[in-house]
Amino acid sequence: MEIERVQDISSSSLYTEAIPLEFIRSEKEQPAITTFRGPVPAIPVVDLSDPDEESVARAVVKASEEWGIFQVVNHGIPTELIKRLQEVGRTFFELPSSEKESVAKPVDAKDIEGYGTKLQKEVEGKKAWVDHLFHRIWPPSCVNYNFWPKNPPEYREVNEEYALHVKKLSETLLGILSEGLGLRREALREGLGGDLADGQYLATSSLPPSLKTKPPPPLNLEPSSSSIVPGITKAMEIERVQDISSSSLHTEAIPLEFIRSEKEQPAITTFRGPAPAIPVVDLSDPDEESVARAVVNSSEEWGIFQVVNHGIPTELIKRLQEVGRTFFELPSSEKESVAKPVDAKDIEGYGTKLQKEVEGKKAWVDHLFHRIWPPSCVNYSFWPKNPPEYREVNEEYALHVKKLSETLLGILSEGLGLRREALREGLGGDLAEYMMKINYYPPCPRPDLALGVPAHTDLSGITLLVPNEVPGLQVFKDDHWFDAEYIPSAVIVHIGDQILRLSNGRYKNVLHRTTVDKDRTRMSWPVFLEPHREMIVGPLPELISDGNPPKYKPFAFKDYSYLDKDRTRMSWPVFLEPHREMIVGPLPELISDDNPPKYKPFAFKDYSYRKLNKLPLD
Ligand code: OGA
Ligand code: NI
Repeated sequence: MEIERVQDISSSSLYTEAIPLEFIRSEKEQPAITTFRGPVPAIPVVDLSDPDEESVARAVVKASEEWGIFQVVNHGIPTELIKRLQEVGRTFFELPSSEKESVAKPVDAKDIEGYGTKLQKEVEGKKAWVDHLFHRIWPPSCVNYNFWPKNPPEYREVNEEYALHVKKLSETLLGILSEGLGLRREALREGLGGDLADGQYLATSSLPPSLKTKPPPPLNLEPSSSSIVPGITKAMEIERVQDISSSSLHTEAIPLEFIRSEKEQPAITTFRGPAPAIPVVDLSDPDEESVARAVVNSSEEWGIFQVVNHGIPTELIKRLQEVGRTFFELPSSEKESVAKPVDAKDIEGYGTKLQKEVEGKKAWVDHLFHRIWPPSCVNYSFWPKNPPEYREVNEEYALHVKKLSETLLGILSEGLGLRREALREGLGGDLAEYMMKINYYPPCPRPDLALGVPAHTDLSGITLLVPNEVPGLQVFKDDHWFDAEYIPSAVIVHIGDQILRLSNGRYKNVLHRTTVDKDRTRMSWPVFLEPHREMIVGPLPELISDGNPPKYKPFAFKDYSYLDKDRTRMSWPVFLEPHREMIVGPLPELISDDNPPKYKPFAFKDYSYRKLNKLPLD
């Protein structure tokens, strides 16, 4: 049985903005929503080298009583040893899969030792973005070297040395905690089983293993005619969905990798009752206040709305669609001439999502990305040369889309009680970039099983999209997926992650996805209005007050869009656990008539069983 590792999913989704639905947490859990971004009390830090032992002990005891967590510095574990521990662990995780799988936890093992990925989904059916390695490091009688990496060769020596230090530090802390309870220094250590307690070592890895890739180029070093020349390192081996579509035209089948799990299949997950309609706003309505109210309410409640009579000439939209369609209908070689270079860090160019999602699912869509504004960011080498009018039409469209975005940002700013310019400036003013994307969803024999773009929120500030006449956009609201209605000539406005952040959560970033059609090609032309790389985005300061603390931490757009995705976090916890058979309950010395036992004693093995199966623990 082959288990898909998060590390591989990460590598294959490096160039996409999407992650498999199974990793997307509910709003109750999403870190962007649930992390407190105001002034936070810091987790206590204890300096173990402080000669005032009593004050050290007080700090450790107090942190354990109040927080249950603290950081120690000057703890006696040599920094050099920690660096070596991290180096050998990182080296192991960067080895080829076959090497890592050689210490994999056997699928049928009862114990947790080995290289692994949590398979079972949690309560809400979500998966954790992490792989791990577990192995016992102490006492020697418990160590099973089969689960210790053989590579790098120093792995063993470093971990054995670390075990001695971590044991010493644990015992020091347990001594302090025992005395904090008014007991002998040995009390807690013995309570955990004394010399029989075993330690386990866990290394965790998450997000693209791109420690080896270069950081993205700094702003302004990005020339307008970029040194990146498309087509040179183009990936001829990348299979385009358009070609897969053509070759499966006369069959009822699609490749297995496009078949979604039941939790994603549109036929199963689309709401079929009376659906609430995505709000439609007529921008030509002379009652400006009512227009503003509609835009603001839709952005607060839905994060998406359609605008009609928006000032972009219908004729221009038709021409935009015509030149885009013509490009996608050109022979492959023509399209590949503007392909995104395989090793490019940026997304510009003709492409196909490479992500092989959990269970190997792929998106039924090809795309073309290129910036259209400001002129200093435009790289014409990613603009199709054919049809010849492509450039002129897109340049004209850019001006209109910019104007419409600014109108909407003005309304949204005033809706927050701010100056009209507030959100535009928050996105970087004249430095903000407009990224054109064309989605090409060819006919799909099984539209009930496949998805175009999987569920996501846009990374942008705001997105202005025109679709062709084939429906397919779906919006997630009140726990259901609803079809968006196609309105000819309308522009669909999505609130993206950056407006959510700038508005401190007032305007919602809509979760959306697309379905595909059995017989017809669906196309769409979203333009993403994004801050430039260096722009720091966070809640607008004017919105923040004592009663309205910041919900999001400000950081540079490049960090929002790349950094978290480009760095692998690893950690090396050591768990000091009782032996399986050890009975653990309140220490008898602590129990008296006024202090009755609050927990029932259990053998550790039964405790783990109960915890895993969510049985009562007391
Ligand atoms: C996107 C997207 C929707 C559509 O490309 O981000 O959400 O209607 N597209 O194609
Ligand atoms: Ni989108």
